[in-house]
Amino acid sequence: MAKAIKQIAIYGKGGIGKSTTTSNLSAALSEMGLKVMQFGCDPKSDSTNTLRNGKYIPTVLDTLREKSAVRAQEVIFPGFNGIYCVEAGGPAPGVGCAGRGIITAVELFKQQKIFEELELDVVIYDVLGDVVCGGFAVPIREGIAEHVFTVSSSDFMSIYASNNLFKGIRKYSNSGGALLGGVIANSMGAPYAKDIIDDFVAKTHTQVMEYIPRSITVTQSELQGKTTIEAAPQSAQAEVYRSLAAKIAAHTESKAPTPLEITELREWAGRWGDYLLALEQGKVTSQGAAI
Ligand SMILES: Nc1ncnc2c1ncn2[C@@H]1O[C@H](COP(=O)(O)OP(=O)(O)OP(=O)(O)O)[C@@H](O)[C@H]1O
Ligand SMILES: [Mg+2]
Repeated sequence: MAKAIKQIAIYGKGGIGKSTTTSNLSAALSEMGLKVMQFGCDPKSDSTNTLRNGKYIPTVLDTLREKSAVRAQEVIFPGFNGIYCVEAGGPAPGVGCAGRGIITAVELFKQQKIFEELELDVVIYDVLGDVVCGGFAVPIREGIAEHVFTVSSSDFMSIYASNNLFKGIRKYSNSGGALLGGVIANSMGAPYAKDIIDDFVAKTHTQVMEYIPRSITVTQSELQGKTTIEAAPQSAQAEVYRSLAAKIAAHTESKAPTPLEITELREWAGRWGDYLLALEQGKVTSQGAAI
């Protein structure tokens, strides 16, 4: 019998740290001895860059445009520690659906039984997060992924994007769609950031998988074209990514979240705004007070 493959999708607002987090997660999972495929779903096709020393790979859609018959192996490239790297690619800018690359690539792999042949343990889809079109929902809707995680900072627009994702998950949750594993809290720096994220996950009935600090080690590693796991394996930041990987490897039960209505979300954000202002003016002293 074919072994169960854990299929994970990572979502989040543009530029929030999806590809950085996903690549470090893949690297840390591979260190645990798991066979991992990282599948970039962004037309920018830069997801797997730091797993390959800053080198870009041809996308599945571009390769298919050049020749009609493509063997799956032609679009799978080796990355750090044997990670299989794939970039689905996208349509020409302004034309077609961003989800097509994902569907086409997954179909190609399924037809050629690649997931089984490579005996993968985990496939991680690094999905573009803030495109308001059907393509955005493809890995959730089509049953491509099983567990969804969202990368979010404590900034309102990032939480807003996560809340929209929760609406999408909820919509397909009764028809076999992917469910939510939790939030990966990224770029934690300000003392109140953790409190804001904690409050948001409590309100939406989900959980924080890991708090990832904003770190110059990540910046340095990226400039070297590497993940932090590869470039700074002894660093505290690498340990945080390993901790995230261990939790995701052990994760089995995802759930439908409870997104906030937009008016509720605005009121919630407004209360945090008032609280942070009061904190700044010295009117309140302790952080994390119930608001
Ligand atoms: N924890 C962190 N500490 C420091 N820098 C970070 C951290 N997380 C992400 N970054 C930086 O933020 C920038 C954007 O990250 P990344 O490309 O991973 O975002 P993304 O969500 O994949 O973006 P896009 O939506 O464009 O695909 C990168 O330069 C990355 O190095
Ligand atoms: Mg990205």
